[in-house]
Parts: sequence; structure tokens; C-alpha cells
Amino acid sequence: MNIEKIIEKMTLREKLLQLSQIMLSESNVDEMKELIEKDCYGSLILAAFSTTGNGDFNSVELEKLNEIQKIAVEKHGIPIIYGHDVIHGHKINLPIPLALAATFNPKLVKKGYEYVAMEAKNDGIRWTFAPMLDISRDPRWGRIVESTGEDPYLGCKMAEAIVKGFQGEDNTNIAACAKHYIGYGASEGGRDYHKAEISDYSLRNYYLRAFKAAVDSGVMTVMSSFNEISGQPVTSSKYLLTDVLRGELGFDGFVISDWEAVKQLIRQGVAETDEEAAILALSAGLDMDMIDNLYIDNLEKAVHNGKISEEIIDIAVRRVLKIKDKLGLFDNPYAEYTELPKQEIRDVARKCAAESLVLLKNDNNVLPLKKDEIICVMGSMAFDTKNIIGSWAADADYSESVSVYEGLEAKSENIIHYNCHIPENDTMRNLNQCDKVLIVLGEAKTVTGEANSMAKTELTSAQKFVIDRAKEAGKPVIGVLLFGRPIALENNVDYFDALIYAWHPGAQAGNAIADVLYGEMSPSGRLPVTLPKYSGQIPIYYNCPPSGRDVDGYYNPDAYNYCDVTGRPLYPFGYGLTYTTFEYGKINIDESSISIDDINNGKKVKVNVTIRNTGSFDAAETAQCYIRDCKSSMTRPIKELKGFDKLFVQAGESKTAEFEIGFEELGFYNSNGRFVVEPGEFKIYVGKDAWCDEYVSLRVNHLY
Ligand code: NOJ
Repeated sequence: MNIEKIIEKMTLREKLLQLSQIMLSESNVDEMKELIEKDCYGSLILAAFSTTGNGDFNSVELEKLNEIQKIAVEKHGIPIIYGHDVIHGHKINLPIPLALAATFNPKLVKKGYEYVAMEAKNDGIRWTFAPMLDISRDPRWGRIVESTGEDPYLGCKMAEAIVKGFQGEDNTNIAACAKHYIGYGASEGGRDYHKAEISDYSLRNYYLRAFKAAVDSGVMTVMSSFNEISGQPVTSSKYLLTDVLRGELGFDGFVISDWEAVKQLIRQGVAETDEEAAILALSAGLDMDMIDNLYIDNLEKAVHNGKISEEIIDIAVRRVLKIKDKLGLFDNPYAEYTELPKQEIRDVARKCAAESLVLLKNDNNVLPLKKDEIICVMGSMAFDTKNIIGSWAADADYSESVSVYEGLEAKSENIIHYNCHIPENDTMRNLNQCDKVLIVLGEAKTVTGEANSMAKTELTSAQKFVIDRAKEAGKPVIGVLLFGRPIALENNVDYFDALIYAWHPGAQAGNAIADVLYGEMSPSGRLPVTLPKYSGQIPIYYNCPPSGRDVDGYYNPDAYNYCDVTGRPLYPFGYGLTYTTFEYGKINIDESSISIDDINNGKKVKVNVTIRNTGSFDAAETAQCYIRDCKSSMTRPIKELKGFDKLFVQAGESKTAEFEIGFEELGFYNSNGRFVVEPGEFKIYVGKDAWCDEYVSLRVNHLY
């Protein structure tokens, strides 16, 4: 498509319309048809209000989307791009993104998203507002649910998987949108939409990494974030939207604002009028205005008055049209319905959910359950079919949801129930006659997601009451925790003999949980976020820099962080058990010293470890490789994840986990914002989680 020819023929108003997105829902289809006859908007977002993704939404029928599209194409010659928040599934949902990160299995996640894209495209959606790549270190922040957790490296791997899954290798699926650029996850105190303080050093070394990975994977669009960073709203930051995003990261798609964020520049106090806000945002590099119509209502006049040049508008229009072209919308603007491979989608959702379950403890091998054991189930979440799907699942088909109870019943006839909230009820005897008690606890999806931060992240008194009742029976107690965020379990963890952190596992929750509880597969999820012990420890994350005094409580149980509680989390990043035992062999490195020249020229050292399954259960183990830069011009984290290898190892067998360490792994962004490797000693750890302590040394030598 000759984009330049199209731009040449467009009026200024037509150009500004291409830079504007407005809402389309079932209720305004006719109105929209009339509007598009006259004004060909660049994009319509399928939404009814700003947090539609957190609620329920009735998709607009395909024929209606095609009717509107026909008007755009035939009347104006430019197709509309339909956008929608498709975050971790469309009809049959995968687990929440935080849980998907817990799989430590990017290949599987990519496959999952290929199906998500297929379902969404089938409903006429060609653009999604995901993946959400905000580094999230604060479980109070409701949107941690949408993130891939606290780690930049894991974030990069998930970013690549999700972007490629959504877009397809040839970009014919649906366009992805890396959001929220940037620093939204650092909102102070976990308060949504709040300010963030991020130094350039942290920005480049932590927050930008996954966005860079998304850009390198070809992400077509980016969404700017609501927050300000150190006094500068991202929406109007030329430094962030142009210099860093395009200049440093090399992004060449288009940027959309978050919902009404251009107008919010007035509330944020950096613009006085709508016109000023629109000029600031567009000049900063924000190409498309979501919802508030500020570009279309103000910039025509601003161009005529010489306040902004038409060239800037042309640049943005070019970017938008190029993406439409890349997606094939000019050649094939209409959506077509195809029969979906529903069983395959269910299967991948089940596998993702099963691989996301993190076994936190398993005293006396109380798990896996045996089919002839009588299991008494407690906790109303066991029957839930809505919250298990998680937030940002507006189009979920709840008839697809499998509750935990249903999943268990499908495996065994010996499932019974006890509702401890009804005194003297007739299921009470069930507790006494069972072999094991299974408690299913969790939080509602409505306390996670956008504008749903929580100051209290511990178990509630009602949940503790259920645990106390269960304990009274004197039977082994197994917990399944269905939460959208890492909660602070305090000492309650001691009451469980076995505990599975199950997140909000999506449509196949019940089947996946039953697969793991009954040992049809060993748990293999790993924590993508640190599990704090007390909420007062928040924020707490593994890749913190060392302190000058011995107060690194994350790693040292005796370190003095607080007067009242330990500084150590309950479980570290990367933690998770299996039903077997793994023995790690000696860490091998093919060279223990290398010149900086070789590193700068792309040479890598090879590191490997043999892992032996010494138990009697076939299982997957995720070997993790961390590095420590022992001396550098700036402080570097105590540990940084630089590789992981998820290996399925049969009982009694061994496999080798392999890692390559070079420029990318050893480098960091220095005080000049340059990515460098500094000579000196590095420790290379391989182990089960961030608390691992076996390492080999690698010396990077100066040239002299
Ligand atoms: C606001 C949210 O912050 C963003 O993530 C979402 O994509 C938009 N609303 C559109 O629904």
C-alpha cells in the first residue's frame, strides 16, 4: 500500500481522525455507522467504560463490525482498526498473566496466546492492549495481576512469547500493545494512578528491559502510562516517548495514550487547556489519543495558528497507517468467522494453569492425593466459577469454567464437603470421617486489576476461621490459594501440611488443580514474585542491591531490617517444589576467565549443570541461573536472573541445564545510560530459586 499517496490526499481533519480512538459497544452501533460516514476515526475500542476489562462486556456482532468497516473502506478508503482489552484470554481464559509467568515456560505461553489471538480475531478484534510489562514489586497494586512479576529477565521472556503469540510470526494475527510505558507498576504505595519515582539507572536496568524485548520481538504498538515519573507525566514526556522509546529502544510502531490520559494532563497540572494538552502529547510522540477527542477537537486550529506543525501530525498518521498496512487491513479489512478448535484451546488453558501452580510446602508427602482417600473440601472458593477466571476477562465464557470442586469430582468419587460457616449443618460429620482436608481460599477478581489496590494483603479473619475449623479435625490439611496477587501469609502457613499457590488459574482451573493434586503431573510453577511474610515488608524483591551494612534481610535471616519482624520473605522469587527431589551436580563453566574484548565481541561462556531426579516421580525442574557483578562502577543487584531451563526429568534420570553468559547477561546501563560490561569478577549461580548459593566465578579481564 502506498501510504504516502494516501497521506497526500488526506485533509488535516482526516489525519487527526486517524489519530483518534473512540468507544464502540452494542449500544452505539447505529450512531457509530452515521458517524463513520462523516468522520473516519482511526480506531474504535470495543468498550463501554474505562475499566470495561475489569467487568463484563457483550461483544459487538461480527456483521455489525463489518458493516461499520464497509463504510470506512468504501467511503474513505482507510480501514478502522478495532481494539479491545484481550489480556489473558478471550472466551476460554488462560490463567492471569502473573500465573502465566509462574509457568517459566515461554513456549507454552506463546502457544496459549496464539489461541487467544485466534479467538479474538474471530470476533473481529485486530488489536489488543497487552502484554502488560510493568515491573511489579508491590502486591498492594491491583494491577500486579496483569503483570509478569518483579523480574526483568522473566519479563523479557514473557514479553517475547506474548507478543509473538498475539501477532503471529507473520503479523497476521492481532497487533499487540506493550503497556504501560513506563513505570506504572512503581506507583507509590501500590496506589493506582499514583506517581512513580524512578531514576534513569533503574529505568534502564529494570523497567525498560521487557519493553525492549517487546520492541525487538516486533510489537506493533505501545501504550503510554497514566503515571508521572519524577515530575513528568509520561503522556507528555518527549524524553520517554521519543528519545528513549524510539531513539534507544528502536520502536517504530505507534503509541496510543491510556484512557483519557491526554486530557488528564490538565489535572496533572502541566497543561491549562485541552489544546495545550493535545499539543504537548502529540509533540512528545504520542500518536493516538484514546477516547477524549482532544486531538480532533483542538489540533486543526492549533495548526492553523502555527502552534504545531502539520509535519508532526503526518509523522503520527504515517505510523498508524503503516501498522494497519502491516496487519493486512488494507487488503483484507473484514473479519471472518471460522470454527475454533475449542478442545485444543481448553487443553492449552489446562496445561498453562497446571504449570502455573506453585507448590509451597508438602510435609510428609501429603500430596499427591490418592483416589481412594476421602477428601473433605472446605472454603466457598472451591465452588467458584467466576473469580477463578481473574480480572481483565470481560468476554469470558463462564460456561467454560471448571470449579475446583468439579475438577476434583471428575477424578475421584471420594470428595465430600463441609461448610463451616453454617453451624450444626449436616455436612459436619464429613470433616471427621475424611482422610485429608482440602481448604480452598482466595480473593475476588474484583479486588484485583485496575483501580483495585488493597492495603491489606493478609488472609482475612473469615479465612483464618476456616483454617482453624479444619485444624480441629486433626487431619492433614492441604491449602489451595486462589489469589490474583502474592499475599502475606504470616505464620498461617504453619497450619497447612501442604500448600499450593494457584493464582486465578482461568477457565480450566478445576481440571488443572485436580491434575496436580492427584499427581497426574507434578507441580512445576515457580514464584514470579517474592511471597512476603508480612505486608509491612512490601516492597520486597530479590534483585535488590547490597547494603553497606549487613542488613540484606532477603538473604540473611539474621539481618536486622525491622524491630518487630524478620526482613526475610516467606518464599523467594523462583521458589517452587515438586513431588520429587532433584540433585544438582557441580556447576561447569567452559572458561573461568575471558577478556573484555571477547565479551564485547559477542563471545559467550557456557555454563551447565546436571540435574538428577532422585525421587520416584517424573517431574519438571526449572534450573535458574543468576549472576552477581561483584565490583562495578555502580551498585549491582545481589542476584540477577539471567537464564532458566525448565527440564522434564523422569524419575532416576538426569538432564543437563545449559546457559550462555555473555555481553547481554553481564552488562548493565551505567551512569551515562550506556550498556557496558565492566571487567572484574562475576559469580554465576545455578540453583532452584533466588536463595541458591552454589556458584562458579568468572573473571572478565582488562585488555592489558
Ligand atoms: C485503562 C487501562 O489502564 C489500560 O490498561 C486499558 O488498556 C485501557 N483502559 C483500555 O481499556
